[in-house]
Formats: sequence, structure tokens, C-alpha cells
Amino acid sequence: MESAEKGGYPHFMLKEIDEQPKALTDTLRPRIKINNNKSSIDFDDIKLDKSWVRSKRIVITACGTAYHAAVIGKYAFEHFARIHTEVDIASEYRYRNPICDKDDIFIVISQSGETADTLAAMRLAKKNGARILAITNTVGSTLSREADLVLYTRAGPEIAVASTKAFTTQMMCIYLLAIQFAYLRSLITEDVYTQYINDLLLIPDDVQKVLDEKEVVQKFAAGNFNKTKVFYMGRLFDYAVSMESALKLKEISYTHSEAFAAGELKHGTIALVDDTTLVVAFAAQQKLFDKIASNIREVTSRGAAALVITYNGVTRFDDICSEVIHVPQTPDVFSPLVSIVPAQLFAYYCSIQRGIDPDKPRNLAKSVTVE
Ligand code: M6R
Repeated sequence: MESAEKGGYPHFMLKEIDEQPKALTDTLRPRIKINNNKSSIDFDDIKLDKSWVRSKRIVITACGTAYHAAVIGKYAFEHFARIHTEVDIASEYRYRNPICDKDDIFIVISQSGETADTLAAMRLAKKNGARILAITNTVGSTLSREADLVLYTRAGPEIAVASTKAFTTQMMCIYLLAIQFAYLRSLITEDVYTQYINDLLLIPDDVQKVLDEKEVVQKFAAGNFNKTKVFYMGRLFDYAVSMESALKLKEISYTHSEAFAAGELKHGTIALVDDTTLVVAFAAQQKLFDKIASNIREVTSRGAAALVITYNGVTRFDDICSEVIHVPQTPDVFSPLVSIVPAQLFAYYCSIQRGIDPDKPRNLAKSVTVE
């Protein structure tokens, strides 16, 4: 039964990584209307009335991978919609006596819609008067029933413990919301709005292009799966991608991995860098290319191997690292949707090389319904 459901794939995780172009299309396409060369977002499942759009503060909370989508949300809402956005881990939020205003929008992200800490954070915010917007993959889940508005990711069932297509579709929902808020708050013109939407419509094909070249990542994993320390670094959106990449690698390959904002390197982590370390640097924020290049030099000069994940056609990192993996270029703000894919594949192939079943990593459950 299980192997039939895997549709010829050795593992659900690889199948789900490969399903991302379709999952992204299913999440995005039905919500886009195109008329006379103008594109617009039309959420079929939620209505954002003026009171939502005028909110002064957004709080996003979640756990694990969904929390990393929340971090993307902070950057995206502040970048596009200029709304002050806080992000918090649900298990922290629920115990820290948070300040909550009835005008706040409280966004809760959860693939399963059943994560205990996430539900508790949502209930606390609701009790304090905030309006709840849920992003979930699961129709009929507790989260979907208790939230005021529900925006569904349409990723299809995610079976593997390591979240992949749920993450990319959560990010897609976040970007759609942030752009829609920007438009409804009159911060962008119709042309810019159309351009952003058209940029998003290209993303599923860009992800497919990365998947078509997965052997490059497989080969890199074959040479690096036995590293004992793997650090991921990046700045801004690349930092959020680093956090998700480190989580993916640790949960299914049991490799000690850590993510840090590249600017923090000198504030501590560099003490751990030596010739046994692999550092993966995300370089998809063009205005910060010089900064990340200097961070890469800092780690390689201490003997670390460095993999850089950057855009096609970018050659400036070639001479300062051990390996470059290229991905299609997108606007920098949307790059996480594409640049996470090689990191998902790297974690998957490291897991295989280490003889681990990536679908059933030790000590982990798909849905964490107890504290
Ligand atoms: O169902 P949820 O999205 O609420 O789950 C949250 C986390 O438990 C989940 O993302 C977990 O971190 C995954 N194993 C990550 O791959």
C-alpha cells in the first residue's frame, strides 16, 4: 500500500520535494486573475476587509519549519506592506505574557493545524482580542475551525516527517498576502502589483529547473554527507532559508547543523569553524553580495569547505569557495521559494548516504500534538 502511494519513488520525502512545482501552482494559480494584461490576487477563501488591511501590527507564530515560513513573513510584510511585523515561536509566545492589541492580526502557520503549542498560542491571542488568520494545509483541522480566516496551502498530503512542499506553499501564501496588503494599502501601483504577481507565476518553473538538475546536489552530498558540523549562513531572506536548511539536515541526517545570520559570524560561531566544517552560504540578496563574500572568505581562510547557493550567471563566488550551486534568478525577495530546494535535496541525499530512512527519522513525529 505504502509503496503504491509513493508512486515509484523510494521515499515520500523525495516525492514531495518533486511535487513542489505542482503544489506551488495549485496554491497560487486559482488565486490569480488576469484581465487585459493586468494581474490581480483574488483569494477565493478569505475576504480581507478594510479593518484587516488597516491593521498596524501583525504577529506571526508557528513551530519548526512553519516558524521559518513565519520569519519569511516578517521580512515580506515589512518589505511589501510596511506593516510592523513580529514573529515568535509558538511555545515561547504562549508563556511570555505577550502584548496583544485587538487591532493586531495574528497569523498562525501550521501544516497539520494540530500542533499543540501553535494552537495554544492562537487561543491566547484570540482570548486577548486579536483576529486570527490561519495558514494551514489541513481542511477540518482544529486550527482551521478556530481561526477567523483560513488561507489553505494546497500542497496535498505531506507524509514525510521532514516538511518540504508545505514550507514552500506556506511561503507562497505569505507572499500573496503581503503583496495584497501592499496593494490594498495603496503602497504599490497596479503595474508593480502585476509585476510581482507575474514574478510569482514564474516560480513553479524555476523550482522545476532546480529539480531537473538534482544530480548536482546528489553528487555534492556524496562527497560531504559525513561532515560532523554543517553551518548555514545568509542575510535577510537568506537567513530564514539558512534556518530551514539547518533544520532539514539535522532532522533526517542527524548531522549537527546550525544556522546563523552571516553578520553574526564574528560574534561567536567563527570559533567553531575549522577544516572539518562545511559552511553553506546563501547568496541571493544582491545588495549584500560583498558582505556574504567577505563572510565566505572568513570561513574558508580557517579551513572550512564552503558551498555557495546563488543565481545562475553569478560568477563572483567561484574563486572563493569549494562549490557553487546555481538556481534560476528571481527577484531577491522571492528567492527563498527556489533557493531552499537544493538544501532540501542535500538533506535528503545526506540521509540516504548515511543509511537513514528520511521518511521516519528517529525521535520525531509528523504532528506534535502534545507539549
Ligand atoms: O504541522 P506543523 O506545521 O504545525 O508542524 C510544525 C513542526 O512540527 C514541523 O514543521 C517540524 O518542524 C517538521 N518536522 C520540520 O520538517
